[in-house]
Amino acid sequence: MERKRVIRTLITFSLLAALVAVIVVSQNRDPSNPHTSVSKDTWIHGPKGHGYAVLNNQQPWKQCYTCHEKKGLGGEAYCQSCHDQSGVKVDIPKKPS
Ligand code: HEC
Ligand code: HEC
Repeated sequence: MERKRVIRTLITFSLLAALVAVIVVSQNRDPSNPHTSVSKDTWIHGPKGHGYAVLNNQQPWKQCYTCHEKKGLGGEAYCQSCHDQSGVKVDIPKKPS
């Protein structure tokens, strides 16, 4: 009986440890953020950067704004304010209504 209890405790602890590990890892790396793994410069100016991503998937309202709004950055206005500052003229694809 004693042995069984020890094993059960061990299993409980390793499950807890695994859970903690998963939580820690997912805090550091948000798998749904498409631009955590590229440098800022590449993401802004690179040939496969955010402009390419947007023009390719054509759905920034679905793939970008939700998260940006959740993070307090804002939706299309956030994109546009930087484009204005950088002096680039961009037609961001609009959500069909
Ligand atoms: C899961 C969350 C998430 C998603 C999805 C997301 N973003 Fe972001 N984005 C962020 C956060 C957080 C920041 C601000 C912090 C940073 O610079 O990484 C940001 C910043 C940016 C910036 C400014 C980068 C800088 O360093 O100043 C651009 C450009 C951008 N996002 C474009 C996009 C585009 C385009 C999409 C969709 C294809 C997208 N994002 C989807 C979270 C997200
Ligand atoms: C921190 C500044 C910044 C933010 C934020 C930003 N952009 Fe841009 N964007 C740029 C710059 C600069 C360019 C010009 C491309 C270059 O310099 O290579 C650009 C270009 C683009 C282009 C055109 C790409 C091409 O090849 O014609 C699209 C589309 C675009 N951005 C969409 C977005 C969307 C959608 C968001 C918000 C989710 C966003 N951008 C947020 C700076 C930004």
